[in-house]
Amino acid sequence: MPQDDKNRIISAKESADEVDFEKSLRPKKLADYIGQNKVKDNLMIFMAAAKKRNEPIEHVLLHGCPGLGKTTLAHIIANEMGSNIKITSGPAIEKTGDLAAILTNLANGDILFIDEIHRLNKIIEEVLYPAMEDFALDIVIGKGPSARTLRLDLPKFTLIGATTRVSLISAPLRDRFGVNFRLDFYNDEDIEKIIKRNAKILDIEIDDQASGQIAKRARKTPRVANRLLKRVRDFAQVKGNGKINLELANDALTKLDIDQLGLDEIDRKILQLIIEKFSGGPVGLSTLAAAIGEEMETIEDIYEPFLMQLGFLSRTPRGRTVTKLGYEHLGIKPAIDPQNSLI
Ligand code: ADE
Repeated sequence: MPQDDKNRIISAKESADEVDFEKSLRPKKLADYIGQNKVKDNLMIFMAAAKKRNEPIEHVLLHGCPGLGKTTLAHIIANEMGSNIKITSGPAIEKTGDLAAILTNLANGDILFIDEIHRLNKIIEEVLYPAMEDFALDIVIGKGPSARTLRLDLPKFTLIGATTRVSLISAPLRDRFGVNFRLDFYNDEDIEKIIKRNAKILDIEIDDQASGQIAKRARKTPRVANRLLKRVRDFAQVKGNGKINLELANDALTKLDIDQLGLDEIDRKILQLIIEKFSGGPVGLSTLAAAIGEEMETIEDIYEPFLMQLGFLSRTPRGRTVTKLGYEHLGIKPAIDPQNSLI
């Protein structure tokens, strides 16, 4: 049976009880947002220019792995532009009428944030085209030969779309965004800064060595870092004196089954399975998902990007392959020379 991914400590997916916790830690200004410097620099200019022209900013597409801060950035943009933000998601918009209701309720300068925009139904997506391009809503009245189209004007709004899968966004939709920002994994220093900032907000005492150690194991993802910080704090309160030092952090992370590089049981299982059952690969995604008992989407969105970022896994046209580094991390010796056979 697939594990409930949202309950996994390293999952970058956000669980319901985490929403408030994340909200309380979310920076409100771009200057307080750590990392993603290229995106920040561009966004700063882009917003300043729009403000100077006294116009709403162009539509923004944010893409990147779960937990890297797409929603946080959307809120920051709204805050910095002094705009209201309405939040919805691709799967929540079930009918064209749902989107029409959302669009007609917007005011000039509002921001509409559509999370998981790649999951928007194609027919609904088509309603967005004239809305984004001409700020117009085309309504079809009647059926058959007597059907007519009525065009309603919409307020000048900004659409911020977020997606973990930019490749699934159709070209016509992608082309209608004025800017397209890709969020990358964070470096360990930035993750450590985020941990320290958030420890301060949460009034957690943590020393530099401990924050460095948590950062190393946080999958280069702020959401995971925040979750680890919370779990380690639990350990500190129950097993220690409430303060987080290196020994306590290491002890807690080991008990949580998170290794030195942030891999958990399932990551290791993925690598191990490809090595042991499929001779190191290549193995197709569907076969891998069935063998592990996880959804294909979860493997593609959460595990693979991180394993590939570490250089432990590679995606080839014929399937997934464990690299020499992946073998080394598990302490398994490849049966054949990995230099020649592995990518
Ligand atoms: N909390 C979560 N992500 C953050 C970021 N990028 N900067 C500051 N605090 C954060």
